[in-house]
Amino acid sequence: MRYTDEVIEEVREKNDIVDVISQYVRLQRKGSSYFGLCPFHNEKSPSFSVSPDKQMFYCFGCGKGGNVFTFLMEYENYTFQESIRFLADRAGVKLPEEDTSREAQARSDRRSRLLEINKKAAEFYFRRLRTPGGEVGMNYLKGRGLSDETIRGFGLGYSGKYSGDLYKFLKQQGYPDALMKDSGLFSYDEKRGFTDKFWNRVMFPIMDANSRVIGFGGRVMGDAKPKYLNSPETEIFDKSRNLYGLNVARRSRRKNLIICEGYMDVIAMHQAGWTNAVASLGTALTSQQCALLNRFTKEVLVIYDMDGAGTKAALRAIPMLREAGLNTKVVNLRPHKDPDEFIRTEGPEAFEKRLEEAENSFLFVVRSLENDYNMNDPGERSAFFHEVSKKLLELPDEIERTSYVEAVASRYRIDSELLTRQINKEALRGVGRTEASVPKKMLSRSQIKEENKDKEQKLMLTWLTEWPQLIPRMKDLLSPEDFTNAMYREVAELAWVQAEKTGKISPAVILNHFEDSESQTEAASLFNTHILLDGDEEKRKAFFDVYCKMKRKSLDTRSKTMDLTDMQGFMAVMDERRKLDQLIAAGLPEDLFRF
Ligand code: CTP
Ligand code: MN
Repeated sequence: MRYTDEVIEEVREKNDIVDVISQYVRLQRKGSSYFGLCPFHNEKSPSFSVSPDKQMFYCFGCGKGGNVFTFLMEYENYTFQESIRFLADRAGVKLPEEDTSREAQARSDRRSRLLEINKKAAEFYFRRLRTPGGEVGMNYLKGRGLSDETIRGFGLGYSGKYSGDLYKFLKQQGYPDALMKDSGLFSYDEKRGFTDKFWNRVMFPIMDANSRVIGFGGRVMGDAKPKYLNSPETEIFDKSRNLYGLNVARRSRRKNLIICEGYMDVIAMHQAGWTNAVASLGTALTSQQCALLNRFTKEVLVIYDMDGAGTKAALRAIPMLREAGLNTKVVNLRPHKDPDEFIRTEGPEAFEKRLEEAENSFLFVVRSLENDYNMNDPGERSAFFHEVSKKLLELPDEIERTSYVEAVASRYRIDSELLTRQINKEALRGVGRTEASVPKKMLSRSQIKEENKDKEQKLMLTWLTEWPQLIPRMKDLLSPEDFTNAMYREVAELAWVQAEKTGKISPAVILNHFEDSESQTEAASLFNTHILLDGDEEKRKAFFDVYCKMKRKSLDTRSKTMDLTDMQGFMAVMDERRKLDQLIAAGLPEDLFRF
């Protein structure tokens, strides 16, 4: 849902940045700004500043900065839309309804009723655990080493001895049967009516990234089967798009996220201090979950069970994580089975060490491949290297590939040049293939190049948002047309209009023009980049330099892409080229670019 500029501005104006950030960071006034310890990097003395005048924050240590929306996007990992909704709620601004058709309204009502029922159920199980009847559950959880704080933090509970208690409880609360049927909490048949799906199990409420209960896992307190029973998928419970523990892990300040297999693993790791652990929901990792992870981190540590099934699951997950753009490492916990067992027997320090020793996922894949071959047999050994070459060839980044060639060569004592030749042979064999087999990743690499090509345009926008007063002064030198990158041009056009109208640029308003989260992040980064230069003269020189480079490239692009019959356009570019040459020849002009 896109909100109008007016609404966004209203939300922003009603949420003073100092007030909002004070809820997360202890701030102290110094002159016209406030200072505190930066929440985005570790530091001992405060370099994180918040300016009430500019309504911006900026860290002199790590360079992060932005407005009240970007703060929440960074701190809470909210999307732009989520940060708007959060702040609107905080300030009591009523947002326009997303979709006011009656059908959509009914759907959203149903969803919130289902969320309500699940929350009520979680509270019911939670209370049960603390009654005399729930003692078995409590003993079980304590017996597994969980502290009171952990049990409370994860909202763990116990479903009573008798099937029917939850139904009775919710019925008393006035929920209609139709809704109960769709909640995933009951079984229903004509003869027996409603029965509780979960009974005599310890209960793990499953929450979405915003801490709303969407389903449950229930574990037997012994060896009976099935060990876990899970809520079925419902309108609010999509197992492929959620991760257990993410509501907590998203706020963890660690540099990566840990993905593991089980609820108990997540809980054990959180209790030991790794609040960055998450798990899939009783199913194999999905590409949507990888995309979700990618929203919160760039690096993932995989800790799957140390058995055949776990290895298989890891081998399946690795290419998916790579595809999603995540840097992946695999943790070895042998001779223990899983993180829960490891931490209980070896302790947190030993665990930390294993995390540090995590193996790059590529080398993990190669090592697993090795198990399929008898490396003492010359024929099998060379078959193994053929397979490895193919895998190396799939790596899109040349530098990365070269370093793995070296790593593989030294680990398996084979000449790295020989291996390189083998890879090239494989590559040639691949030339005859159809276009469709060109790896997708290749494309995204050229897109990265594309981005670097436009880095001056990006810098220029950063300067202009910081000093919008430059825009009218540069009327003869620069226009939105000079931004050849489509996204930057859009930002420029909006900035020009704003600067003309108000003399200011509001990042919040500009951000709202981009719908997908990728463009939003890209646009937000424009306003987060800061220019760390001392002294006006230094600034002026740097700005002049960026201007000349950008203008030159842009004129080149424009003449290359111009319609050959467009005489007027051609003349205009010629004219601009001449002006640029003159400007450069004359050197940094005295009167221009004054901040
Ligand atoms: N799982 C499931 N149904 C089962 C077994 C497992 O849904 N019958 C899912 C659960 O999400 C579980 C995960 O697979 O958390 C991993 O399974 P397992 O390793 O067996 O369970 P743990 O969570 O490690 O639990 P415990 O330590 O109590 O054995
Ligand atoms: Mn396990």
